[in-house]
Amino acid sequence: MSYSIIGFGEVGQALARAFARMGMEVAVASRRPPTALAPQARAIGPTIIPGTLQEALQADVIFLAVPFREHATVASVLANWQGKTIIDATNAYGVPVEELGGLQSSAVVAKAFAGAKFVKGFNHLPAGLLAADPNVEGGRRVVFLASDDDSVVPLAATLAERLGFAPVWLGKLAEGGALVEARGRTWAPLIFQDLVKAN
Ligand SMILES: NC(=O)c1ccc[n+]([C@@H]2O[C@H](COP(=O)([O-])OP(=O)(O)OC[C@H]3O[C@@H](n4cnc5c(N)ncnc54)[C@H](OP(=O)(O)O)[C@@H]3O)[C@@H](O)[C@H]2O)c1
Repeated sequence: MSYSIIGFGEVGQALARAFARMGMEVAVASRRPPTALAPQARAIGPTIIPGTLQEALQADVIFLAVPFREHATVASVLANWQGKTIIDATNAYGVPVEELGGLQSSAVVAKAFAGAKFVKGFNHLPAGLLAADPNVEGGRRVVFLASDDDSVVPLAATLAERLGFAPVWLGKLAEGGALVEARGRTWAPLIFQDLVKAN
């Protein structure tokens, strides 16, 4: 299984730190060339591999850590997302609901990556907390996951665990998933809740 992170800003680097902590390889990419990302990637750890967007999109599991509106540009790079898993860590805070055509923001992103297995997750924590060691006071920091595709649950939950987090499955995007989304200028109730699951 190969992994990548698209977007190497606050959230992309926070996720990269989680991979580095576990010695897991992950490709990272943004609109800038790999050489521009290399110093920061090196600073995080040797398993963080800067690449082009095209290279990073070869991965089986792809974290999306770009500004919400940029998801469409990333989605347009590949004609076919079959066989890929997208983990969407974006938040649509401040995006007018009218712009989303009546859909939840996660549904908008899922639609753009049609054919992929789509998971909303790793988006509820401020980047600083996401970057921190998830081993907290004898427990593990919780990340929320939601998807309309039950078949992706084991993969996403296992990955969250391998990265040191305690995954909490919230069910479908329109059900539990709605608890971890921004809508217009409001945040759903689980956003920013820094929860730790006792081992
Ligand atoms: N910051 C937080 O605490 C936080 C917490 C949870 C969720 N989020 C969400 O996570 C997402 C990322 O937030 P952030 O704070 O990490 O933003 P950020 O620091 O501005 O980083 C965004 C990254 O995306 C890259 N990017 C932008 N457009 C791109 C494109 N079309 N293709 C590839 N890469 C692109 C940028 O790099 P280039 O300019 O080099 O392309 C940059 O590395 C947002 O949706 C945000 O709402 C943020």
